[in-house]
Amino acid sequence: MKLPYAEPYKIKMVETIKRTKREDREKWIKEAKYNLFNLSSDKVFIDLLTDSGTGAMSDQQWSAIMTGDESYAGSRSFFELKEAIRDILGFEHFLPTHQGRAAENVLFSALVKEGDLVPGNSHFDTTKGHIEIRKATAIDCTIDEAFDTTINHPFKGNIDLNKLDEVLSSNPKEKIPLILITVTCNSSGGQPVSMENIKAVSVLAKKYGIPLFFDAARYAENAYFIKLRENGYQDKSIRDIIKEMFSYADGNTMSSKKDGIVNIGGFIGLRSKKLYDKASMFNIVYEGFLTYGGMAGRDMAALAKGLYESADFDYLESRISQVAYLGNKLKDYGVPVQEPFGGHAVFVDAKRFLPHIPQSEYSAQLLAVELFIEGGVRGVEIGTLLADRDPVTRKNRYPELELLRLAIPRRVYTNNHMDYIAAALKNVYDRRNEITKGFKIIHEKDIMRHFTV
Ligand code: F0G
Repeated sequence: MKLPYAEPYKIKMVETIKRTKREDREKWIKEAKYNLFNLSSDKVFIDLLTDSGTGAMSDQQWSAIMTGDESYAGSRSFFELKEAIRDILGFEHFLPTHQGRAAENVLFSALVKEGDLVPGNSHFDTTKGHIEIRKATAIDCTIDEAFDTTINHPFKGNIDLNKLDEVLSSNPKEKIPLILITVTCNSSGGQPVSMENIKAVSVLAKKYGIPLFFDAARYAENAYFIKLRENGYQDKSIRDIIKEMFSYADGNTMSSKKDGIVNIGGFIGLRSKKLYDKASMFNIVYEGFLTYGGMAGRDMAALAKGLYESADFDYLESRISQVAYLGNKLKDYGVPVQEPFGGHAVFVDAKRFLPHIPQSEYSAQLLAVELFIEGGVRGVEIGTLLADRDPVTRKNRYPELELLRLAIPRRVYTNNHMDYIAAALKNVYDRRNEITKGFKIIHEKDIMRHFTV
């Protein structure tokens, strides 16, 4: 018998979470104005709002916290992290930042100006925000298959090379400061990008003389999918796959709160010393001196360890298999989910779950609220609420996918929790026809409304 996967760790410390009563949850969510961000976490039994900064650090990481060097300049922890980034990703230069969006802010300050275009696969919302705030445009060149949750394509994060070529060939080079590939592609459902696609994009990038960057938040998960799904990579190690992926890139932004398995942190990796020098100035202004950039020494030390731990096959297998375990359970119950399942989350298709609720009534948000009421499980809407209004017409932008994301924190929950989540969602599914109306927004902010609506 083939031995199944099992977590390559045992639990040393636990945190109590409490089950709650349905009538309380109904009251709390009403008081929270049906916005799950307004709930205090003690009211949540299982928190799947995000996999960002919510992972459990290892004993090695906690030990590193104690030995972190808090020197303002020249911290030993900085050099440990620099060496880990060089060793794993292959970049000689790096700038620490306090989280992923800060890395975007610093890098784009050096590269992106008004009127520019930044093509890529579905950009994450903070990335898009940092492009748009500079009056530049993010162009989504993701393959069409990504937008149909029923199509089972192994690399739904891939870039459509024709779409990209069209952008590159019909605009002057000076208007395209970079091409950005997000690995895995969060906005299209935690979907991976194949090595073949990365390579082909890098060929196009070189042909047009444009730098290629990764938004690398979940790069290790992407490498795992390449090993599993792409011909020729089965016998390669995760570390070798990561090395090859990054060999095609000129640099990266990183939210270390994901595959760095730390609670806070980010960085920019760079090949070019010239760009490093240019971005350094913005790092000092926005983040902090070059050898800490918004991170405590102890956090850099823990991140250096986390980067090695997340590049381990057994860790990745247990993590991604747990996400798939939840996905398969939901599928068995008939709940419509995006396939294949993402690396960090299962995405529930609200259009198919609640076909009688129009997108204009925020059906994925409604589903998120119903799941909270049913079982105290907090997911997050990735749909019309998040898509916000068109900045010019102020009309709602209706995305093709209306999703409820169930993001699984790293090394935090067991498969019993997955069973509980699936049962709660099945109960909502069984009573879906009794859910007859959605929401209307009473009050919203001009930008990033989902946080405060
Ligand atoms: N890029 C990607 C692909 C992300 O998923 C995120 C954050 C960021 C950049 C920004 O990083 O939060 O450290 O500033 N994603 C979180 C999420 C918030 O829930 O998916 P950050």
